[in-house]
Amino acid sequence: MALELSKEETLEKRKRLIGQSCRLFYSDDPVKIVRARGQYLYDENGKRYLDCISNVQHVGHCHPSITKAAAAQMDLLNTNSRFLHDNIVLYAERLAATLPERLCVFYFVNSGSEANDLALRLAQQYTQHEDVIVLDHAYHGHLKSLIDISPYKFRKLTGQKEWVHVAPLPDTYSGMYREDHPNPGQAYADTVKDLIEEVHRKGRKISAFFAESLPSVGGQIILPHGYSTKVAEYVRSAGGVFVADEVQTGFGRLGSHFWAFQQQGESFCPDIVTMGKPMGNGHPLACVATTEEIAGAFTANGVEYFNTFGGNPVSCAIGLAVLDVIEKEDLRGNATRVGAHLKDLLTKLQTRHRIIGDVRGAGLFAGIELVKDREKRTPATETAALLVKRLKEEDKICISTDGPWESVVKFKPPMCFSMEDADLVVQCIDRILTGYRSNKFIQFTWQNMLLPCTNSDHCGDSLCLCYGLFFSRVHSYIRAPTDLK
Ligand SMILES: Cc1ncc(COP(=O)(O)O)c(C=O)c1O
Repeated sequence: MALELSKEETLEKRKRLIGQSCRLFYSDDPVKIVRARGQYLYDENGKRYLDCISNVQHVGHCHPSITKAAAAQMDLLNTNSRFLHDNIVLYAERLAATLPERLCVFYFVNSGSEANDLALRLAQQYTQHEDVIVLDHAYHGHLKSLIDISPYKFRKLTGQKEWVHVAPLPDTYSGMYREDHPNPGQAYADTVKDLIEEVHRKGRKISAFFAESLPSVGGQIILPHGYSTKVAEYVRSAGGVFVADEVQTGFGRLGSHFWAFQQQGESFCPDIVTMGKPMGNGHPLACVATTEEIAGAFTANGVEYFNTFGGNPVSCAIGLAVLDVIEKEDLRGNATRVGAHLKDLLTKLQTRHRIIGDVRGAGLFAGIELVKDREKRTPATETAALLVKRLKEEDKICISTDGPWESVVKFKPPMCFSMEDADLVVQCIDRILTGYRSNKFIQFTWQNMLLPCTNSDHCGDSLCLCYGLFFSRVHSYIRAPTDLK
């Protein structure tokens, strides 16, 4: 039995023992979570938090069916995939049923990063080319090979390698072609075509185009219609393959489709699909699905692919249980219904708060982009950060931001998120944004003076006047985001 530590002790040990580049959510006042169920997290004092962040605990935290399947298999056998076992083949068969027929060969690994690294190897081996095209602001994992193809990371590190080429993010809200463009799908696909021609002029060759099927790190971007089909056509005619990163978006999160790439239409099929996060509901389980031709080329190099933990009986038992729960509890149906309700509420909110520039997403993968002004679409980064902080402190709601300027407030909760949960989050966002607007004019009413200060905990402002109740509203004004002042 592990020792129980106070929150301060945990924090002190974490600072001392864990690499400081492994950051915590809410780093100035982290939440210590000791148990969880469904869409709720509980801290060491039993306080309940609504979780809008955990796309990993896909069917709900600590789902009893998943725990039961894991424990039963753990009790019976766990070994590596060099022994013949039913689970891996039964699981591969179930996954194959969710995918287009040509994606019929599977490699099981332990993380999204491992899946993308293997996808890179498969593509390079099959095409015998080296170069990769990625979307701007993309993130595909923490391995060195993936930092190299993740502009979100390499821009802060050693920079762009000569074999990596960055295409514009097909963002029809703040990108180069917007919602008023007659055919943004074609226009953005043409930027990839131009990039391929440029690569060829340099005497280089494309092995792969890598993209999230719904770019999440880029800010919950819905790819414009026709984009992927056209890009796949250009990339294939250059001898490359199309890799769809479904690490965040797969397993029915969009409700309408099991895989986000399917949003692009029946005729579109990637050559490689990578999956991870939600696959094991928190257990490290990830996978690469590809075609017989690509897998064949990988086999033909004569080198064994061995992964100690990938596809072990326990992981596959968990994967099978996740698929069962998605079906039995109609979680795709729930994502469709609750996602539509959430989007509807957020769209109504947008009519009242000019700071909400855009509402987008599909199913339980949604986002609101906050802007300082609607015409210029300048990101309201500071408000987004404060909104996240206040939702956690005042309402016990955990939510995060993303996008190139961290101005997109993201919703990717466990798939059991309910209508009532959606109502609550939107009401709280409304209250906070309304408060910021009215704080522009400090109202010294008695009622205001008696309100407890919401920001007193960790105020680092040297000029802060936050001394108890009297100055609470003054303090809120001082701390109100300059985006809104
Ligand atoms: C789109 C995408 N791909 C790949 C990864 C890497 O997955 P992992 O952290 O499991 O290695 C992530 C992780 O955040 C991701 O968001």
